[in-house]
Amino acid sequence: MDTTRRGLLIGGAAVAPGLAMAAETPAPAIRAHLGVTENPFGPSPAARQAAVTAMADLPYYGWELEPPLVKLIAQRDGLQPEQVGLCNGSLEALSLLSTAFSKTGPIVSAQPSYATPLSYAERQGAKLEWVPLAADQQIDLPALAQRAKATKAGAVYVCNPNNPTGLLLDADALRAFCIEMARTCPVIIDEAYIEISPDPVRNSMMDLVAAGHDVIVARTFSKVYGLASLRVGFVAARPERVATLKSMIPTHKGRPGLAAAAACYGDPTYLAGAKAYLESCRKKIYAICDANGLKSLPSHGTYVFVDCGKPNLAFQKTLASMGVEVRVFDSPRHPTWIRVGTASPAELDYFASVLPKALKA
Ligand SMILES: Cc1ncc(COP(=O)(O)O)c(C=O)c1O
Repeated sequence: MDTTRRGLLIGGAAVAPGLAMAAETPAPAIRAHLGVTENPFGPSPAARQAAVTAMADLPYYGWELEPPLVKLIAQRDGLQPEQVGLCNGSLEALSLLSTAFSKTGPIVSAQPSYATPLSYAERQGAKLEWVPLAADQQIDLPALAQRAKATKAGAVYVCNPNNPTGLLLDADALRAFCIEMARTCPVIIDEAYIEISPDPVRNSMMDLVAAGHDVIVARTFSKVYGLASLRVGFVAARPERVATLKSMIPTHKGRPGLAAAAACYGDPTYLAGAKAYLESCRKKIYAICDANGLKSLPSHGTYVFVDCGKPNLAFQKTLASMGVEVRVFDSPRHPTWIRVGTASPAELDYFASVLPKALKA
């Protein structure tokens, strides 16, 4: 029996074993899980094998695998090992660092963007400052800089490519912004999807970290590397920022995740395959949108932002009633936009089959 999450969601049994009798009116089975940003291409064969091999040592903590992974990342990205800090998924580092930086001033971010770490910081008492996207849906860097200055920001958070728009900022403009901003407060650049972009080295702000600017680049093995459930990420930053992060993370990282990450980081053959797969999924989403007269943004992520032309919360419910899960974002300027994830071709086919009916409902 297929007991994976997708098996449970897609393969017929709508709810987890044991829960079938719990609900009076069971929710409709989700047949297209498009609300998430995972990578259905999955991990590289080498990463899978490394995780399996590491299982032989499951009784033992994996701490001795951390320094070699740090060294590997540092070598590949032109950093010193003390400029690299591992985390249990980048959400952990983003949340903890935002919280720490919020002690000196608000955290300034574009809206909509990946709000989860900032919401975490807010729950710990942080003040957040949201800056709307520009008319072209891009992150408005001058407006961010202005707000950061006016509010004496504790940090600025920029997600590039942005989630949910998938748009990539101009590398030169972002580099100039970071250099200027980092003179007054740390700049957090969330590069969760950067490896999916056409020229990741040029588009990444990693070189600014290497040059000593107060820029914190967050990366993850959850997206293009397909290792979301193993929870491995890292930040590249000034040694004192890495030390702050380490002082806030009490745990070592899991052995299978460390082994898998070391086996796939920067693997060009795997990356080319994963990127081609994700591009084909995005093209499928663009085609579905075109066929239904919906506007979508050209994305560099594992998702596409789509203007469904209807109030998005109600439309999300309509789609859910037809077995399709999508995400909507808290953004006053995007009341009709939904985010559609690059799920498996079968899930996207199902989405295509119900969308015309959902739009008429
Ligand atoms: C932009 C962005 N950053 C960070 C993360 C966190 O990923 P993880 O904690 O799995 O590394 C996500 C996950 O959805 C994301 O979309």
